[in-house]
Amino acid sequence: MRLELAPSCAMTNDSTYGDVKRYVIDSTGLAYYLDKDVEFSSHVGRRMAALGIADCNAYLNLLHDVSAGEAEHDALTECLTIGETFFFRHQEVFDMIRDQVLPELIERNRQHKRLRIWSAGCANGAEPYTLSILLRRDFGEQLAGWDVTILGTDINRDSLAQCQRGEFGNWAFRSASHDLQRSCFTQSDQIWTIKDEYRRGVLFQYHNLVQHQFPSLIDGLSAFDLILCRNVMIYFNPAIVPRLVAQLYNCLVDSGWLAVGPTETSVSLFRAFQAINSAGAVLYRKGPQAALTPGWSPLSTTVPVVDSPVAGKAAPRDAAAMLARCATEIAASKRYARAPQRDRPSQRPAYSLPATLADVRAKLNCGDSEAAAEGCRMLLAAERLNPLVHFYHALVSEQQGHQAETEAALRRSIYLDRNCVLAHYHFGLVLQRKGDRQAAERSLQNVLALLHGRDESDVFPDADGLTIGALRQLTKMHLEILNRT
Ligand SMILES: C[S@@+](CC[C@H](N)C(=O)[O-])C[C@H]1O[C@@H](n2cnc3c(N)ncnc32)[C@H](O)[C@@H]1O
Repeated sequence: MRLELAPSCAMTNDSTYGDVKRYVIDSTGLAYYLDKDVEFSSHVGRRMAALGIADCNAYLNLLHDVSAGEAEHDALTECLTIGETFFFRHQEVFDMIRDQVLPELIERNRQHKRLRIWSAGCANGAEPYTLSILLRRDFGEQLAGWDVTILGTDINRDSLAQCQRGEFGNWAFRSASHDLQRSCFTQSDQIWTIKDEYRRGVLFQYHNLVQHQFPSLIDGLSAFDLILCRNVMIYFNPAIVPRLVAQLYNCLVDSGWLAVGPTETSVSLFRAFQAINSAGAVLYRKGPQAALTPGWSPLSTTVPVVDSPVAGKAAPRDAAAMLARCATEIAASKRYARAPQRDRPSQRPAYSLPATLADVRAKLNCGDSEAAAEGCRMLLAAERLNPLVHFYHALVSEQQGHQAETEAALRRSIYLDRNCVLAHYHFGLVLQRKGDRQAAERSLQNVLALLHGRDESDVFPDADGLTIGALRQLTKMHLEILNRT
């Protein structure tokens, strides 16, 4: 529910008001508020009043505070984000997904029997649950026995909590049929709760598209067959959107699909993709050979530029130039840690990481599992006793759909280092997928035990900036899912 807004003149006259606004826009991407001081100042004013804070400088200090800043940033973000969404929003897109995208993906993945979909900026979950309903109702038989994941991510923790509950009001069904509403949900008063069969395989995770590293295989943000990032980038500063588009591109497998909002389509922005039209919808397909790999060999595919360059800017002649530029920005982009970095000399394990393991990770993150597997074979020959090499070998095997090899490599990694927390975590997920509930729970509990007492904002070395806090949350989410099933 959106509240009545009162402009706060006193606040906009505060000399630190601009700094608060800049900090919040930089960290969330929400440049939408650049020219909306009435709205922005009243949201901030309400937060300050609730906390008894009188001036912007004190509020900015709170946002920067190592221990309390993150919670306040979340609380303010919950006020600022616009979570408008509903089931089957822009029906033509879902028709195209049903008629063209899914049949193609099912055919292509028939051997590995795996399908990975990401709803980035999923708001209250209507979009990922729409996909789940579509998959199970129209493709249930074909997908029997498949490993299907639909991941919803958002920056608004309140919305993510609603996603987890799977509860919706009538307004969320304004574009869906009554039949669908009644058969996929249970009703209690005015609340409609998604049935368990449509919850299965739908995961939710906190993720800030502007601040967090992605692709990242470590926390499951890579190698998607289909990504929906609709009506999200429209609120962002246009200057950062090309970088995000490149990152989304890298999160797709070859020939993977991207859907954006109807007002977000652009020939120049998506020039590295193939635009595919269907009645009333445009989706983008990643070219089969074009993959951007930061820090790996550069892309060589030339993609024709169809429309004219943005006024005053030279348009790059090929996708390689654009994406390579974005790669540099990605490498420089902020990571998970919001707290200032402190010296953490003791965090690194005793074994040293071969330089090329970072390359394996980069290859993996953009879905090139063949090259990553080759890199792993070389590393295994040289470093058989390095648990991290076995851990990455497991990730590669997992991406290639080799379940037994994945499990064996994770076991070796844990055997070599019982404290290898990421190996325990992924082992838990593998066991969860296998249906070994008790063993999965034990592994995930091991993760929580190993993380116990560690600082939330500490960052895992060599793990795409993943923090202790983020892994703790992911682990708890999976434990909750296990308890529900
Ligand atoms: C208008 S909703 C779109 C919901 C859905 N994709 C749809 O089209 O129906 C925009 C969502 O983007 C989320 N969002 C805004 N900034 C974000 C960021 N930096 N990272 C991730 N999500 C963000 C908001 O919290 C909100 O839930």
